[in-house]
Amino acid sequence: MAGIEVTALHKRYPDGTVAVEHVDLSIADGELFVMLGPSGCGKTTTLRAIAGLERQTTGDIRIGPTLVNDLPPAERDIAMVFQFYALYPHLRTRDNLAFPLRAEGLPKAEVRDRVEEAARLMRLEPLLNRRPRQLSGGEQQRVALARALVRRPRAFLMDEPLTNLDAELRADMRTEIKHLQGQLGTTMVYVTHDQVEAMSLGHRIAILNKGRVEQIGTPLEVYNRPASLFCAAFIGSPPMNLIEVEVADGELRGQGGLALTPPPGLPRDRRLVAGVRPEALEVAEPGAERSVPARVVSAEWLGDEVIYVVDHGGQRDVRVRMPSTVRFDADAKVGLRHTGVAPAVYDVSTEELVA
Ligand SMILES: Nc1ncnc2c1ncn2[C@@H]1O[C@H](COP(=O)(O)OP(=O)(O)OP(=O)(O)O)[C@@H](O)[C@H]1O
Ligand SMILES: [Mg+2]
Repeated sequence: MAGIEVTALHKRYPDGTVAVEHVDLSIADGELFVMLGPSGCGKTTTLRAIAGLERQTTGDIRIGPTLVNDLPPAERDIAMVFQFYALYPHLRTRDNLAFPLRAEGLPKAEVRDRVEEAARLMRLEPLLNRRPRQLSGGEQQRVALARALVRRPRAFLMDEPLTNLDAELRADMRTEIKHLQGQLGTTMVYVTHDQVEAMSLGHRIAILNKGRVEQIGTPLEVYNRPASLFCAAFIGSPPMNLIEVEVADGELRGQGGLALTPPPGLPRDRRLVAGVRPEALEVAEPGAERSVPARVVSAEWLGDEVIYVVDHGGQRDVRVRMPSTVRFDADAKVGLRHTGVAPAVYDVSTEELVA
């Protein structure tokens, strides 16, 4: 097993597209590290460079102590699972799993043992004699994961391996992958553009934007303290409300007078925006203590909770997450108040977190 170091990675494709501008990653041995970001931000390119399937323009990649820049994929001792994983269509599951091991020239008994272990871990025992076309999409994906497992590589690289599965199966497989990674303790780099997947899987998450790393942190850090306005708008569903604020007499107020708990170290003389999570706001009866007047624009019922969109202080899209026991109808006049801890505060001009 091994950690992975990516230093000043830059990738420009022959047609001139810069897919990765500058990426530094320091992934610990045994870590489940998630790369998250919108389509086209350079996730796959970074992963393929780590795997050796794509040569970076500049920058270094180390796997364990080894500088692997000039090593072909086969010599990097890593296994990669893609969104569309090509299983050999004419081979039964058993042989699809055994294939990479036989190619390595492992003894028969060892091949059998490893195939059985991987099949057990991925619960594929009943499917060992089937060919890919006799398997559902989820089952094929499990075979693909098992085929990566049997090799016992130093690290796993996964590029959106669950994208083609339905929601329920995805959630199951997510749990499976997390559990497996914990059991095996093998370093894993997992690429996704699904933030729920990133949050639930990752020990740490790197948020990429336009070929650069915007933030690296634990799911909690990334959720509570997004490092930039980009991260603030990207993480959370719905994401943070971005509310222009002013500091006066030690108080932090949004337009329309909404009082927010001020974080320490607020800078002066700068235009500021507070990132306020929908669950840190509350819709109450009009005139309720510490509330400011607002109007419900719409209410979206999600079963156990409700997302209110309210109009307040000239901002028509303030989102509030509440338990669905609280009921206000569209157009109701209400009071809006902040109940959470101090919000993250950003400098409007630099778009960076300042307090
Ligand atoms: N072979 C290539 N030649 C030229 N440009 C490419 C090539 N492969 C990718 N790109 C471009 O590089 C950028 C990054 O692509 P990449 O596939 O790394 O993004 P991604 O983050 O994986 O996106 P997605 O979430 O859609 O998979 C994109 O603008 C893409 O169009
Ligand atoms: Mg991709």
